[in-house]
Amino acid sequence: MTLLFEDVTKRFGALVAIDKVSIAFEPGLIYSIIGPNGAGKSTLINMCAGSYRVSEGRIRLDGVELQALEKYQIAQHGIARTYQNIRLFDGMTVLQNLEVCLFPELFGRTLAEVFLPGAARRMKDERTERCLLVLARFGLAALADEMAADLSYGNQKLLEIARATVLAPKVLMLDEPAAGLNHGETDRLKEKLRELARPDLTMIIVEHDMSLVMALSDHIVVLHQGRLLFEGTPAEVQANLAVQEAYLGSPGEVDGIREAARSRANRVRIRADADIERRRPAAL
Ligand SMILES: Nc1ncnc2c1ncn2[C@@H]1O[C@H](COP(=O)(O)OP(=O)(O)O)[C@@H](O)[C@H]1O
Ligand SMILES: [Mg+2]
Repeated sequence: MTLLFEDVTKRFGALVAIDKVSIAFEPGLIYSIIGPNGAGKSTLINMCAGSYRVSEGRIRLDGVELQALEKYQIAQHGIARTYQNIRLFDGMTVLQNLEVCLFPELFGRTLAEVFLPGAARRMKDERTERCLLVLARFGLAALADEMAADLSYGNQKLLEIARATVLAPKVLMLDEPAAGLNHGETDRLKEKLRELARPDLTMIIVEHDMSLVMALSDHIVVLHQGRLLFEGTPAEVQANLAVQEAYLGSPGEVDGIREAARSRANRVRIRADADIERRRPAAL
């Protein structure tokens, strides 16, 4: 079920945050959206999730025009997301943070809860079971009864992603999942995200951590000043000069990207001239 952005534009007053962007996101693949701050990455996610209205263009999933729907309807169509800033229910336990996602299912069952307490208990047990399974997948089952606010930052980020997967979404959009994580936490996140990949899931990750982007992505979309600058495989993105100038501009960033590329050397070829550049100081 392809997620299609068709000539999508978003304006905030005179500012064009997204300028006629068209992209197709296919199921079964992991996409990363990269680009400098202010490029429009979060805006793209926010429009898809219904948090921002689309100014022009269409966003379609399976023939349904998402830009015409309300946020809750978009969620019902199987689109889940996390936020750039963690948004958990601090006053609830880890488990309750997941169970609350299943709340809409409770509505139709109120009568059963009243007249068939046995059945109601079974349904509640089922819900809990389902959420515990998700927590286990993220290595958080042992923390189920902790308050969400008491978790480490890394675990809070994982919990947010776990919560987004409870309803088995078709599209999962993660806005800077590795931001603020240390190396160990980033590695763990990488592993969990890789495990999440399914043939029927489209994963879209907005991320600055190039080691994560290069290691996980099947396809990378580069945004610059609201425009689609380039898209391609990790290797193609690295080899593209326009991308290097616009995004990988500073030597520090370029070095970071090369390091990331080295760590998956079999899948990504590093440009030979870039390597020579890098060796030069040592040779002097
Ligand atoms: N709610 C908003 N109101 C006004 N301007 C916004 C809003 N959200 C984003 N912008 C602007 O749109 C541009 C893109 O922002 P954003 O999508 O957050 O970038 P990114 O996530 O790539 O850093 C920026 O210039 C930002 O200031
Ligand atoms: Mg952002």
